[in-house]
Amino acid sequence: MDIAGFSKNYVVRKLQHDDIPVIYNLCSKNKMYYDYCPPYVTEQSIESDMKAVPFGKNISDKFYVGYYDGDKLIAVLDLIRKYPSPQTAYIGFFMVDADLQKQGIGSDIIAQLSAVLVNDGFSTIQLAWVDGNPQAEAFWIKNGFAKFGDVCELEKYSVIRAKKTL
Ligand SMILES: CC(C)(COP(=O)(O)OP(=O)(O)OC[C@H]1O[C@@H](n2cnc3c(N)ncnc32)[C@H](O)[C@@H]1OP(=O)(O)O)[C@@H](O)C(=O)NCCC(=O)NCCS
Repeated sequence: MDIAGFSKNYVVRKLQHDDIPVIYNLCSKNKMYYDYCPPYVTEQSIESDMKAVPFGKNISDKFYVGYYDGDKLIAVLDLIRKYPSPQTAYIGFFMVDADLQKQGIGSDIIAQLSAVLVNDGFSTIQLAWVDGNPQAEAFWIKNGFAKFGDVCELEKYSVIRAKKTL
């Protein structure tokens, strides 16, 4: 997978341990996200998210990447390829710098990612959002995702699953 090709507008690269403080700065401004999806972000939770893969997947299928405008990190994406099926890509996390939201940046990133995934032979993107999070729900529906299946009740919150056919 050619990460650099994920965007025509931004430099995209894998995020590393050294990037954690900058990732934390971006995430910590998105308080509403963590109100629905607790606990609130910490540098330790980012470090663990960087390594987390779904059961049965390998770290080589994980793309925890940053989108940069020059030197400035403007968005973070966690993508798992070939999960939960060989032709599906799974978005585990996507966040845009709070100061830059509502300008179409998030939609543009997802549109360009969708085009890359089609080219790479994927047919579906799947994800989930916390039930009741109005920002996440409106954003994913605006970007062509449709809910499917039952609401999944987790320990601290429930999630809605959604997918988009590419
Ligand atoms: C969701 C998110 C990625 C959207 O990024 P963005 O760059 O603002 O996206 P766009 O400008 O392309 O689209 C904005 C759309 O998001 C939705 N949205 C954004 N803020 C919203 C809010 N406070 N309430 C309801 N909908 C909201 C709307 O559908 C909006 O479209 P509109 O402007 O036509 O109403 C960004 O708000 C974010 O990072 N949120 C925190 C993390 C998160 O919830 N990620 C998704 C779940 S993994």
